[in-house]
Amino acid sequence: MTTKTALITGTSRAAGLGFAVARQLAELGYHVVLTARDVTRAEPLAEQLRQAGHAATALRLDLTDQASMDEAADHLTRTFGHLDALINNASDMPDFRTLSALGADLDAVRSAMEIDVIGPWGLVQSMTPLLTAAPAARIVNVSSLSALQIAAGLDLGASLRAPAHSMAKYMLNALTTVLARAFAGTPILVNAVDPGDTATHPERGDDDTDRPAAESARGVVWAATLDADGPTGGLFRDGQVHPDGAPRG
Ligand SMILES: NC(=O)c1ccc[n+]([C@@H]2O[C@H](COP(=O)([O-])OP(=O)(O)OC[C@H]3O[C@@H](n4cnc5c(N)ncnc54)[C@H](OP(=O)(O)O)[C@@H]3O)[C@@H](O)[C@H]2O)c1
Repeated sequence: MTTKTALITGTSRAAGLGFAVARQLAELGYHVVLTARDVTRAEPLAEQLRQAGHAATALRLDLTDQASMDEAADHLTRTFGHLDALINNASDMPDFRTLSALGADLDAVRSAMEIDVIGPWGLVQSMTPLLTAAPAARIVNVSSLSALQIAAGLDLGASLRAPAHSMAKYMLNALTTVLARAFAGTPILVNAVDPGDTATHPERGDDDTDRPAAESARGVVWAATLDADGPTGGLFRDGQVHPDGAPRG
């Protein structure tokens, strides 16, 4: 039987959502490819999974560097020849304390767009031959409730909280819709998932209401392992159409 493969971006931290997703997919028998812009941070996490008896590899991948994405695709082509799940998990939240579009730092907006939208878009382009070579590949874009301030007029207590992050996630939801259309008629399904507030930064002090990464990861893994009749082009949380707003960006 051919080994299923999954690539997860932004897997540089043991406490991060990406590593929780990688662990759960590894437990399902996937060979997981943990990626980080500094591969020396992903390698110990891959080793931790290997020590637990799973199949895991670490690769360098920087979402602002298209060559690094092409190199990762070349590596997967040589090693496996297919990719069953691509998880666009990496992100940056440069402006959580900014509460209005008028006060937005536009350099932060450019950077967030690069990491959350253009990077994942380029990565999908690099990986398309591998995704197409898999029997039924899944693409999961890890989104955020922040985007729904724009898409659904959700009130987060500011005119626009974290404008760079929120606009980038809004565009990631839109990218999800257009990629789903681009892959229509193929077995490839593309969805966005809001993981919900998650305790991924113990060093900064997570909120008491944040849930464990393993719990949030389940909804991402659900979208990564959908059956053939699963949805495409939607926004979900915990395997349900997002409760707080419109399913599309
Ligand atoms: N945690 C939450 O409460 C929450 C809520 C809603 C949505 N989300 C979303 O869930 C995802 C994971 O959340 P998290 O809190 O675990 O993540 P995070 O710590 O905010 O970031 C995830 C990873 O992105 C990587 N990254 C940043 N810039 C990159 C680049 N240019 N190329 C490649 N990787 C890059 C970081 O790597 P470095 O270590 O190299 O910086 C980090 O490991 C994110 O998309 C986030 O927006 C999280």
